[in-house]
Amino acid sequence: MRAGPPEPARAGKLDTVMELKGLVLSGGKGTRLRPLTHTRAKQLIPIAGKPNLFYALEDLVAAGIRDIGVVLSPETGEEVRAALGDGSSWGVRITYIVQEAPLGIAHAVKTAQPFLGDSPFVLYLGDNLLSGGIKHLVAEYRQTQPAAIVLLTPVDDPRAFGVAVLDEQGRVVRLLEKPQNPPSNLALVGVYLFSPGIHPIIEGLRPSGRGEYEITEAIQGLVDSGQKVIAHQVRGWWKDTGKPEDLLDANRLALSTLVRRIEGELQEAQVVGEVVVEAGARIVRSTVRGPAYIGAGALVEDGFVGPYTAIGKNARVVSSEVEYSILMDEAQVYALPYRLDSSILGQGVVVDGKGNARRHSLQLVLGDRSRVRL
Ligand code: DAU
Repeated sequence: MRAGPPEPARAGKLDTVMELKGLVLSGGKGTRLRPLTHTRAKQLIPIAGKPNLFYALEDLVAAGIRDIGVVLSPETGEEVRAALGDGSSWGVRITYIVQEAPLGIAHAVKTAQPFLGDSPFVLYLGDNLLSGGIKHLVAEYRQTQPAAIVLLTPVDDPRAFGVAVLDEQGRVVRLLEKPQNPPSNLALVGVYLFSPGIHPIIEGLRPSGRGEYEITEAIQGLVDSGQKVIAHQVRGWWKDTGKPEDLLDANRLALSTLVRRIEGELQEAQVVGEVVVEAGARIVRSTVRGPAYIGAGALVEDGFVGPYTAIGKNARVVSSEVEYSILMDEAQVYALPYRLDSSILGQGVVVDGKGNARRHSLQLVLGDRSRVRL
């Protein structure tokens, strides 16, 4: 997606606001997504046919941000650079920043400080997905110039997140990172807007119990020093794609917004509902029931692709049924005796079955280039 030119500064207070920069975090370890992340950056796992990270970038671009830093780990940095390039395909400038070790989100911000300089910025965690975008938040930041804007959303198990406590007026009073006994069900979403005043606070942080420099503690520092921290609830849906089931759910949510577009070839095919079939893909004697995404050059032959499934470039589904799943580029399934359900197959994975009775379902999370023979 390409956005138009940056908005001109308007009169009054706005003239004094420096342009916001973007900072996307694409480092970290990705341990909770193994085996998928043994061979790739978790931020590059495709969601509805597009790397997770692209959604963050597109939100920044749509909000008029043109100068974007991307934090990389030494292990997966090259792959992320190759995927994003210099940013020119989005009309932005990308600066890469290598964080030598995953010492925490606040540490990543500190590593990026020379890039950020004195500019306010949007910090966007590269494994987060937000349906409502961030345009309204950037506009509000320009108007009110607070120390920070944070996003919150109620969750079932707040122990996996940063958690915020608000007072009766809705002001943030306390923030805790992954508390054992959460004082509220309001999770911190991985998108934050900061003034440059966050840097001295980060300088004063010490590693937390889990050994990381926590951005949650830095925001608490802003609150404690009486600075203005605005909290908003998320519009629409939000997803942190930390675990395989979250990836599948994010895929479902992103596919729900698809608009039917058929550029590939259909032969004796039934393609129902919101389905994208990219150019060069072929659907032969098969049914595809949307929402579903079929990548360029993929083949579905004598098969069924069910709702909430995304099939990567040059992937193959032959004599098999797949539902609520992600097949990455070049993944192949042949003659499966069971319907493949709630599964994630890494790039180039081959699952080859010989049976005939399609009575049960299979659930698989397979890293790149795995081979399964049933
Ligand atoms: O997703 C929202 C949650 O994100 C918040 O509720 C938490 O307060 C916040 O700490 C964070 O928690 P996670 O445990 O989900 O963070 P994770 O380690 O997964 O890192 C988030 C992203 O930042 C991910 O894309 C990797 C990247 N990262 C992470 C660390 C620790 C870096 O680039 N460098 C790092 O040092």
